[in-house]
Amino acid sequence: MQKGRSRMFMPETAVALLCGLAAGAALAGGDGGNETAAPRLGQPIEAAAAARFDLNVFPDGRGLPPGRGNAVQGRALFQAQCVVCHGEGGRGASAEEVAGGSEPLTSEWPDKTIGLYWPHATTIFDFVRRAKPMTSPGSLSADEVYALTAYLLYANRVIGEHDEMNAKTLPQVRLPNRDGFSGVDAKAPPRLAEP
Ligand code: HEC
Repeated sequence: MQKGRSRMFMPETAVALLCGLAAGAALAGGDGGNETAAPRLGQPIEAAAAARFDLNVFPDGRGLPPGRGNAVQGRALFQAQCVVCHGEGGRGASAEEVAGGSEPLTSEWPDKTIGLYWPHATTIFDFVRRAKPMTSPGSLSADEVYALTAYLLYANRVIGEHDEMNAKTLPQVRLPNRDGFSGVDAKAPPRLAEP
């Protein structure tokens, strides 16, 4: 028994020793022993250029730019730039349904539409601003994104046709599935952070 165990142990020890030797050799080589030197790739980005990528919008409204729009304005934009893929009223064409939905989240094949599934209205703004229209992302002005967001909320029967969406009103819109997700906070678990 003792013999068998030691036979199995030997090769592992040898492999571990070899790995250690290889790692040591790699460290001793390299660029004169300075293993923390960063590879000299790229160049520092200008603040103005970095701002173009600083697009995160949070559920509480942080990151929303000035601007405004309603569903009436949004419908015209949707007809011109989105309907070809998303269909009349946001349903029925080749792309993802952006309105409606009939299968509830408890069904086997739930419709994960904005109205049934998304927890935060601000995510619509974030996503549309950075990714839409699919053929020309980043081309929409803040007013246009507010208007399209308003139209998608209206098409999902969450707000009225003339309700203005802006940096103050949009975070106040409550989507039906708002409480269907658990919060994830990398700094403090929600249970500890909330009273
Ligand atoms: C060329 C086709 C095309 C056009 C034009 C287009 N989309 Fe999309 N869109 C898609 C596809 C495909 C998806 C699903 C894949 C993805 O999320 O990128 C999608 C996803 C979305 C989603 C997320 C849906 C979900 O529940 O995940 C939203 C919101 C959206 N589009 C809004 C818009 C708006 C607003 C416009 C017009 C400004 C637009 N789209 C124009 C093809 C298109």
